[in-house]
Amino acid sequence: MRLKYTSAVHLNIEFISFKAVYIGEKNLEKFIIKGGRRLQGEVEISGAKNAAVAIIPAAILSDEPCVLENVPNISDVSISLRILYEMGADVKFIGKNTVRIDASGIKDPVVPYEMAKHMRASYYFLGTFLGKFKRARVAMPGGCYLGDRPIDQHLKAFSTLGASCTLDHGMIDIQAETLLGSQIYFDMVTVGATINTMLAAVKATGMTVIENAAKEPHIVDLANFLNSMGADIMGAGTDVIKIRGVKKLKGTTYAIIPDQIEAGTFMVAAAATKGDVLIKNVIPKHLESITAKLEKIGVNVEEFDDSIRISVDGPLVKTSIKTMPHPGFPTDMQPQISTLLCLAEGTSIVTESIFDNRFRYVDELRRMGANVSVDGKVAVIEGVGSFMGAPVTAPDLRAGAALVIAGLAAKGVTEIEDIYHIERGYESFEEKLRSLGADIEKKSVPGVAVRKAL
Ligand code: EPU
Repeated sequence: MRLKYTSAVHLNIEFISFKAVYIGEKNLEKFIIKGGRRLQGEVEISGAKNAAVAIIPAAILSDEPCVLENVPNISDVSISLRILYEMGADVKFIGKNTVRIDASGIKDPVVPYEMAKHMRASYYFLGTFLGKFKRARVAMPGGCYLGDRPIDQHLKAFSTLGASCTLDHGMIDIQAETLLGSQIYFDMVTVGATINTMLAAVKATGMTVIENAAKEPHIVDLANFLNSMGADIMGAGTDVIKIRGVKKLKGTTYAIIPDQIEAGTFMVAAAATKGDVLIKNVIPKHLESITAKLEKIGVNVEEFDDSIRISVDGPLVKTSIKTMPHPGFPTDMQPQISTLLCLAEGTSIVTESIFDNRFRYVDELRRMGANVSVDGKVAVIEGVGSFMGAPVTAPDLRAGAALVIAGLAAKGVTEIEDIYHIERGYESFEEKLRSLGADIEKKSVPGVAVRKAL
């Protein structure tokens, strides 16, 4: 029998040891940080969230069990696994970060609102169900509020492959008699639509060509995973991806890549506290745009085969940053690096070119003494040298991580509420920071009102 959702914040799921954060009327938690300590030592980076949330639904495409290694213990992953389980898959942890998925029991490709609302990546069930069953019914996705986040390009790709897409009482309903490989040109570079098209096209008849495809490391990781199951995908990591449809996909054992954004977040946290940290289990090539900007700001970055060392021995200085699709500077690092720039000498300009509303953390940083003005997608940051601890609230995942960085660097105590956002994407964040010498603890906040979306 399938488990029912409850309104507990931390749900101990019987079949997995992973933590699932579910927001109801009960307790929420906050971080309490006593700032001003240099981060020092070594930290290990977990598997990539945005790869895991694509690869977990992709396992449905296989006719045999798949084993995924280096799966991060974060709530977005718990929710993805939970959706699979509720749909009828057999999901078992066979190691701390290793999960075996046998999706052969899934018969009804429907993800209801109660499940889809918690996570943006629930829309990957559209592509994977369409690829496997030629039909899908998935509620419109939730996720971080970063401005308008339409899915028109996903639906355009599904239609081009031969599916009909309708919106029916909040559910996206997709059906196809047959899926025929086609040429798809995206109007903008989109990670989600590139992934969804790969999932839908992998078993289509004939060749699909995606032009203006996203090139993020997790796109390549998904292609490698699907190819290890017998798919025929070429060009992932470039802006033209070719997918020759295959009839069957077999089981595989596959290790998810390290999380580029978690690594970048620790790089910035080390820099903001003028620390000295060796960040292990990373792919330095994935971090190049972050490394280049940190070096401009005056941070020392030493690269090794699968680790990177961050230290600071001089002043931090202003720079300009514009977020861009990979290999440009990632939008998912914009709040963290902007926080660092508040501590740098001079006036920095940060332009957010991916999302309309990704400066919501600025109001919170102002409580801590930041001097930032935002006009549309551009932030002008006057360096203030230091932060003062203050009570703040995390507005979304990466903004929450940025506030933690501010708290670590601040004089005095910072309390950060709504840390469930942060737990969507960072495994054992406070434990890892504590192991580097941070003074950070998690406390319950009783009686907080219902939160509607993660
Ligand atoms: N867009 C459209 N129509 C579409 C799809 C996208 O207009 O059909 C627009 C979006 O509104 C946005 C831009 O295109 O302005 C790029 O969106 P994209 O599809 O690339 O983003 P996403 O798939 O919604 C993923 C990550 C985000 C990350 C972005 C950009 C996942 C689950 N989410 O979102 O991750 O910021 O790509 O790299 O992979 C995070 O991890 O904190 C996070 C928000």
